[in-house]
Amino acid sequence: MHTPGHVLGNYSPRVANRLRRASPRAGSLRYGPPVADTSLRRKLFVTAAAGLLLTSACQATEEPTAPTEAIRTPLDAFEGVTVESTTVEAGHSTVGTSYPRVAASHPLMMEVRTRMAQRQTEFLEGLPDRGGSELQQDASFLAVSSQVVGARITSAVSSGVQDDDEHQTLWYEASSGEVLPWTSLFADEAALERAHLSLAGALQEEYDMTSQQLPGVLGEVASRADEAQETEEAAAEGEGENQEAAAPDDSLDLSDPEQADEAAENWAGSPLEDLAFSTAGGLAVNMPPGEVPEASGGREAVLPVKAEASEEMLSELGLAARDAALDNESGAGEFPLGDSPDHQGVSMDCARLKCVALTFDDGPGEHTDRLMDILDEYDARATFYVLGELVGEHPEALERMDEEGHELGNHTWQHDDLAELPPEEVRQDIARTNDAISEITGAEPPTIRPPYGSVDDTVSGVVDQPIILWDVDTQDWQSRDSDKVAEHALTNAETGSVVLFHDIHGKSVDAVPDVLDGLHEEGYHFVTITDLFGLGGMGSGDVLTDARIG
Ligand code: NI
Repeated sequence: MHTPGHVLGNYSPRVANRLRRASPRAGSLRYGPPVADTSLRRKLFVTAAAGLLLTSACQATEEPTAPTEAIRTPLDAFEGVTVESTTVEAGHSTVGTSYPRVAASHPLMMEVRTRMAQRQTEFLEGLPDRGGSELQQDASFLAVSSQVVGARITSAVSSGVQDDDEHQTLWYEASSGEVLPWTSLFADEAALERAHLSLAGALQEEYDMTSQQLPGVLGEVASRADEAQETEEAAAEGEGENQEAAAPDDSLDLSDPEQADEAAENWAGSPLEDLAFSTAGGLAVNMPPGEVPEASGGREAVLPVKAEASEEMLSELGLAARDAALDNESGAGEFPLGDSPDHQGVSMDCARLKCVALTFDDGPGEHTDRLMDILDEYDARATFYVLGELVGEHPEALERMDEEGHELGNHTWQHDDLAELPPEEVRQDIARTNDAISEITGAEPPTIRPPYGSVDDTVSGVVDQPIILWDVDTQDWQSRDSDKVAEHALTNAETGSVVLFHDIHGKSVDAVPDVLDGLHEEGYHFVTITDLFGLGGMGSGDVLTDARIG
């Protein structure tokens, strides 16, 4: 379907120029660290391209083999993306995480955090009792444009004995708002088969490997192709009845998210799970060390799929992603937020995670800053149910809560029992406290907690915000004993719990490091009330104690 002229005609002029210059380099194999520094890579590219142009001008037949490299851009190369990095050391494990954050709630950022959080829980729950172990997670962008954003998550586990790197790639399609698997980049299942064959061919050509020697999925694809060819040859010799049997099953529509997921499951373990676009306009696929043992020398090998070949394999989304990646190579600009609302909403999907919400009432007070220092060490987010009358005394505490991703909640103006007040006074009290908070943070607190947990139909009928109680009461105001407070929280908190503390008591704040330490080691994540209940999980006037599932 594609003539060479037509191929270049589909690109933006800048991309087409780059491809025209780069395509002679597309056939080579390269070994080396998978992620090069972008600016260095750009310099190398410019040098290589300049050399190439000179060479092609005088002797077009002898083109130098320049490396195929995967285009991966550091998160903070894009304007508007901040990188949150934390390292938590607890027990005999270290967990380091770097994840991207943008000014608005973004489905891809949410999915990246959720995947990292899932991996963290899996790592912590699977730790042996002895011996140090470390999990380090970070991400990079594979392509960024207003139509599509691709991200790659790297999860590296090192135990001192063995190091293990895992990679996941995720694609966000702006038009549908969906986060899609790598299979969505391909036109159909036949294209997936061809992409694998192309990789198998690259390995066979370079290392003289037979189909039987090819690793995993590539080996299966190559054997399938061999069989198909034999069948075809047999058919050509006159036994025509088998001709249909080897045709690839083409029943999945990869533009449908669910069917693309199904395809991704069918191709589990494929090296294409870690695909990127290459500087030559094709695909660059990492082969993990060990998969090509005699060749890679313990390092990842990058296999190329040529630009011309990939053109025919890619879906519309895939082509848009390819163009975006090549554009990013010439300079990363501003991260596109589209028309997403300019505020942080839900930041991870607690329906799939071990989440708890720690809540602190009656402040802010003299211990609140120290508490935030402790929370910061664990990358923990909390929710502060503040009293309206204290807001004016500690505006800087509220500013810090807001800046550091904690959530503000309304705990009334001066701790009156709302069920004892006439409806109009309840309304006024809540409104006055909302105003005091939003004057500092710019946003109305999303939820309310009535003092003493005292709520009746009148109260819930009058207030517009969801009413949040708790399922774990540490009774910290009564015991004033940090050991007891910590023990109570650790014994009773479970997935979906809302835990009640009071940050006006020093002993309560003293208990928090043990609580964070213990729950972290069990694989829990510390989230705001909004994250715990999730989008659509709280309604106006709802009275909720927890988000425990089942
Ligand atoms: Ni209170």
